[in-house]
Amino acid sequence: MRRPPPIEGLRLRPGYLDHVRQTHLLDALRDVLAEAPLFTPRMPKSDRPFTVRMSNCGPLGWVSDQYGYRYQPLHPETGRPWPPMPAILLDIWRELAGYPDTPEACLVNFYAAGAKMGLHQDRDEMEFAAPVVSVSLGDTCLFRVGGHRRSAPTQAFRLSSGDAVVLGGQARLAFHGVDRIYPGTSRLLPEGGRINLTLRRVTRGVFAKSGQRSAVEAPHVKQPQI
Ligand code: SIN
Ligand code: FE2
Repeated sequence: MRRPPPIEGLRLRPGYLDHVRQTHLLDALRDVLAEAPLFTPRMPKSDRPFTVRMSNCGPLGWVSDQYGYRYQPLHPETGRPWPPMPAILLDIWRELAGYPDTPEACLVNFYAAGAKMGLHQDRDEMEFAAPVVSVSLGDTCLFRVGGHRRSAPTQAFRLSSGDAVVLGGQARLAFHGVDRIYPGTSRLLPEGGRINLTLRRVTRGVFAKSGQRSAVEAPHVKQPQI
């Protein structure tokens, strides 16, 4: 089978976080989740629960329920503001994003054995010139990325604890998802599972050059997120 050409703007950084930084990030996340517990999002139309549980930190958080997908400043179950983004996440953004403004949302995805995430685009943001920066902790997963259409050819590769992925340029609006996780492949989380963190800029940044265009046109039609 021919491999599809790699999409421009997809950057992989295997082993980006060493073990010490992974444990520091995990400690910071435990504080985040103590304040903003994982919740189970639901699909807007079908009302079916996601298999992935979620939380957020930063001024905005991504949520999904019967009313749709959106960013909001409050946790959907506690009604409290999301906790601030830990400094270690801001450092990661500064190191990898190449975008002058701070991230506004960090979506925390928790995958227990058997959880997965269907192919989707991240397109609920107003700023596509900023990349989505992703870091993974815990069990390895099979990550899949394609093109701008759901039907475009995809490629899949494993993401392990400490790996980072940057979806910028043309890859910013690439369909992507997680086919499966491989239980027992990491000892970082005492009870197993995988955590993925995605850092996002939601609104146009004030330091981003005015007129700075994203490499891809803003979409006109709202697509299902997941
Ligand atoms: C996501 O697309 O929000 C998560 C991707 C991942 O879990 O690696
Ligand atoms: Fe995504």
